[in-house]
Amino acid sequence: MSKSFTNQTSIFEEETVLYDTWTPEKLPERETELDQLHDALAPAARGAAPHNTFVYGKTGQGKTVAVKYKLQDLSQFAEENDQLDLHVVHYSCAKDNTSYQVVTNIVEELTGNKPWGHDKKTVFDILYDELQSIGGTVVIVLDEIDSIGTNDDILYELPRARANGHLEDMWVSVIGISNDFDFRNNLSPKVKDTLCDEEIHFTPYDAVQLRSILHRRAEKAFLEGVLSDDVIPLCAAFAAQDKGSARQAIRYLYKAGELASNDGDSTVTEDHVREAEEIIERKSLEKGIRELTTQDHLALAGVLAHEATGEAPARTRQVYATYRDISQVVGIDTIEMRRVRDHLQELDLTGIVQGERRTTGIKGGPHYVWSLDANFEMTLNVLQEVDRFDAAMDIIT
Ligand SMILES: Nc1ncnc2c1ncn2[C@@H]1O[C@H](COP(=O)(O)OP(=O)(O)OP(=O)(O)O)[C@@H](O)[C@H]1O
Ligand SMILES: [Mg+2]
Repeated sequence: MSKSFTNQTSIFEEETVLYDTWTPEKLPERETELDQLHDALAPAARGAAPHNTFVYGKTGQGKTVAVKYKLQDLSQFAEENDQLDLHVVHYSCAKDNTSYQVVTNIVEELTGNKPWGHDKKTVFDILYDELQSIGGTVVIVLDEIDSIGTNDDILYELPRARANGHLEDMWVSVIGISNDFDFRNNLSPKVKDTLCDEEIHFTPYDAVQLRSILHRRAEKAFLEGVLSDDVIPLCAAFAAQDKGSARQAIRYLYKAGELASNDGDSTVTEDHVREAEEIIERKSLEKGIRELTTQDHLALAGVLAHEATGEAPARTRQVYATYRDISQVVGIDTIEMRRVRDHLQELDLTGIVQGERRTTGIKGGPHYVWSLDANFEMTLNVLQEVDRFDAAMDIIT
């Protein structure tokens, strides 16, 4: 018999608490970072300019939620103090590639109209006009700022807007948030100088911290007594071993609950967590493979072919030969062996292939051998789905 929909669940009390967007009431694991944010923003409460701040740390570490939390505090304080004129703009740059796009989108957010067809200087002027008409103190949060890469004028222009005479009698401060360490390290000295008055680093959560984060969430999300004792520690341990991401830990917990609920079980068990972890990791690896470049896919197909014939791990030279055969069949220009090896090394970093450095014999010298780390069927399916590799399937399988 097929399943019928029901609003009954023996698992969840309020499952929306497990959404990524749900806002926690407190963040005790981030007390130090919240204090640092507090100090950076404190001048605003006194009617002075808050410090420009750069917040960085890996994904899922509570950067966004902590910044929102502190700014809410500050906004509330401002509301209770009539003489404080404070405005907060929280903008995610995730879909933008340039400072220009960010500026036009912030203008749209402020006015409802997106400026079209102007040069960069003009859109900055439009933004300054808008900010001037808001006045007081404006804190602009540029979340996921790494999306703009090296096109980072905005990070220089906004913090210096007043010093450069674009604004009068008001303060604009910027809080940049990024989970890309290269972005931070590669900021031009000019930007570092202006933006990074304060730098706040969010270090990855450990298993103990993840447990307490999960406990607080679970208390609201699940019916009493449905979680077996080992569920939260296991979700926390899985996430801690990987990136220490709270988002990841919460995802495991939610998925485990969902699996139990779908099965009509009345408890969430360790097995549900293990299954959840497998499903989520497989999905994320699948997505990772899908988003690779064509040359990555070709190099990967080369490794795959050696797996299929039982010749893995194979040396770079061998993988390269197969890579060339496949490229030829599908009609894509080849690149040099050295560069294919670079691609393989990148695939190694993301856990899709596994490279091993070997030293054999006196003349042999060191060399790499490659094998597939991801699941064979899944990788093959993804490659078939995204590329014109059909013609090469004879070689690959
Ligand atoms: N200390 C904490 N207590 C409770 N929940 C937390 C805590 N830290 C993070 N979370 C939760 O984890 C999830 C991820 O947090 P957040 O979005 O702030 O991460 P982030 O560091 O901004 O990640 P990214 O770099 O990917 O944007 C959110 O659902 C958030 O509510
Ligand atoms: Mg974030």
